[in-house]
Amino acid sequence: MKAKIHEEFQKKFTGSGDIYASAGRINLIGEHTDYNGSFVFPGAIDKCIMAEIRKNGTDKVRALSLDINEYVEFGLREEDAPKQAWARYIFGVCREIQKRGGVIGGFDTAFAGNVPLGAGMSSSAALESCFAFALNDMWSLGIDKFELAKIGQATEHNYCGVNCGIMDQFASVFGKKGNLMRLDCRSLEYQYFPFNPKGYKLVLVDSRVKHQLAGSPYNDRRNSCERAAKAIGVEFLRDATMEQLNAVKGKISDEDYMRAEYVIGETKRVLDVCEALEKGDYETVGARMYETHWGMSKLYEVSCEELDFLATLAKECGVTGCRIMGGGFGGCTINLVKDNLYDAFIAKAKEAFNAKYGHYPQIYDVVISDGAHKE
Ligand code: GLA
Repeated sequence: MKAKIHEEFQKKFTGSGDIYASAGRINLIGEHTDYNGSFVFPGAIDKCIMAEIRKNGTDKVRALSLDINEYVEFGLREEDAPKQAWARYIFGVCREIQKRGGVIGGFDTAFAGNVPLGAGMSSSAALESCFAFALNDMWSLGIDKFELAKIGQATEHNYCGVNCGIMDQFASVFGKKGNLMRLDCRSLEYQYFPFNPKGYKLVLVDSRVKHQLAGSPYNDRRNSCERAAKAIGVEFLRDATMEQLNAVKGKISDEDYMRAEYVIGETKRVLDVCEALEKGDYETVGARMYETHWGMSKLYEVSCEELDFLATLAKECGVTGCRIMGGGFGGCTINLVKDNLYDAFIAKAKEAFNAKYGHYPQIYDVVISDGAHKE
């Protein structure tokens, strides 16, 4: 990928720049908990967005997306926003840096990636984090890593229409090879957890049903949670109990009740998983993953037929844990599979899914890797 990017950079702009990369992510458990002030358990993966970048001495950004095969130029003022969705991520990062007092100039860039789009592995966070990290480094802005993650998140809010939490950008910036991270999304305290479950593999089964979070029910879910928290009288649903939720049952809609019930359950599940991991108890980890899946499907309603099919199939095959991963509405399941079951499960998942939906799912073995960096 690096060689290809460099070749195209040279063709378009001549000469060379510096190369930066930032990763997509997985999340073991803790879904739709980040914007509820609760816990998440992500890790960066070996799929990234990579960009060659060089200051160009003007006040314009000249950007070439190799994957989309499109070239766009834009200025750095608010009114210069490009129309292309992919370019808005880069523009948003520039603007959010400027809003925080960072002085940057124009640059030339060619970039590409191998984080599958719309698969729930956070390709957009990888793109934002790559540019936030790079611009901070190139202009020596001294922005700390948390602020870099927040710049990516604010880009989603202000330029891309998704009111996301902090998980994806955090994972992309802070990722560390071989480690998952438990992040408390309220205090932003985090802890690295070396993750090497002996006798098990983590594998993603991508339904290739594309999800699209922008302008989507994602924001509706967040609004439901905020209404429920307000009715209960807590800042975040993380602080609510089922007793408190039941006490306001008649005052909120059934839908908001279901959403809140899921979040309260999910907060407890992440803590259970942390405890289980410390004991090496992967059966409990897996059981909680299935509970998350069906909570996301029945209460939070962010699954789809294909992902429910994959979760049911995983259970039938004896897979230890399986659940939809990421924001939902498509994408992949994350599976915790015993080594000796792996081949049979993958073969069965491919065959049965293809027989039902007419295409094969894509399989990705998870390799937990480093986050944003200069190559
Ligand atoms: C998307 C968002 C994250 C998080 C997940 C669900 O990936 O970007 O902030 O809310 O969905 O856990």
